[in-house]
Amino acid sequence: MDIVRTVAEVRTAVAAARKAGRAIGFVPTMGALHAGHISLVDAAKADGTFVVVSIYVNPTQFGPNEDFTQYPRTFDADSAACRAAGVDLIFAPTNAEMYPPGDQSRVRPGPLAEPLCGAFRPGHFEGVCTVVAKLFGIVQPDIAYFGRKDFQQARVIEQMVDDLRMPVRIATCPIVREPDGLAMSSRNARLTPSDRARSLCLYQALCIARDRLGAGETSTGRIVAAMRAHIAAHADIKVDYLSLVDPRTLESATLPAPRVLVAGAIRVGDVRLIDNLTVGIDG
Ligand code: PAF
Repeated sequence: MDIVRTVAEVRTAVAAARKAGRAIGFVPTMGALHAGHISLVDAAKADGTFVVVSIYVNPTQFGPNEDFTQYPRTFDADSAACRAAGVDLIFAPTNAEMYPPGDQSRVRPGPLAEPLCGAFRPGHFEGVCTVVAKLFGIVQPDIAYFGRKDFQQARVIEQMVDDLRMPVRIATCPIVREPDGLAMSSRNARLTPSDRARSLCLYQALCIARDRLGAGETSTGRIVAAMRAHIAAHADIKVDYLSLVDPRTLESATLPAPRVLVAGAIRVGDVRLIDNLTVGIDG
């Protein structure tokens, strides 16, 4: 496994892999790798691709009061995990490599970026689209792999790829959960043990929604009220949103519906956690 830091080095390695007849599989990450990221690497390996993982904490997707500086950075453990998983190339650029002096272009997403996390993190998806577009331009992957925990991110990127006619296929992979149901997230590392225990209420609230939908409930208001009541029973948790939406458009769901995305974001202390269930597929 090679570890490279420049665009030129990625291009050389990827060109050699292509010349050897390999398709390029790409897993963009911000590091602090966990089993969810490794499941994306496994999917890329199962597709037989030359697997490139990027590790880069992208400053443009963090707001001024967000956790850019506290975001966990664990490069040695990450590279060991990539090596063990059979990654072919790690691209770990510097800020100057990704945003060199004079850099000024940005990719502005459309309405898919407005609800859910977009309403609470202004500019976040513009930062995500910009860095992912740059990374796609550098790595030129055939397939890029994204986890469905960041469901809205995956939809926004699918739309960007369609709109900008980028020659890459987006593969989305299931959420990987801890045994008790907590969605794996790099931010879980920032939770104290008691915050970790209370964080589970988000997944439990999603399950309440799934069960109510399964039982034929057709009022989104009643479902969201039940979810909120469950979370309110846990101290010191702030809800950003709990929503039932159409998984394609991310607009409010009209029930009954064949597929509903139940999504939520909470703040536990200064850690923001998101999770979702697609009812009709998962439930
Ligand atoms: O999902 C993430 O970790 C990031 O948003 C991504 C896609 C690597 C872009 O920085």
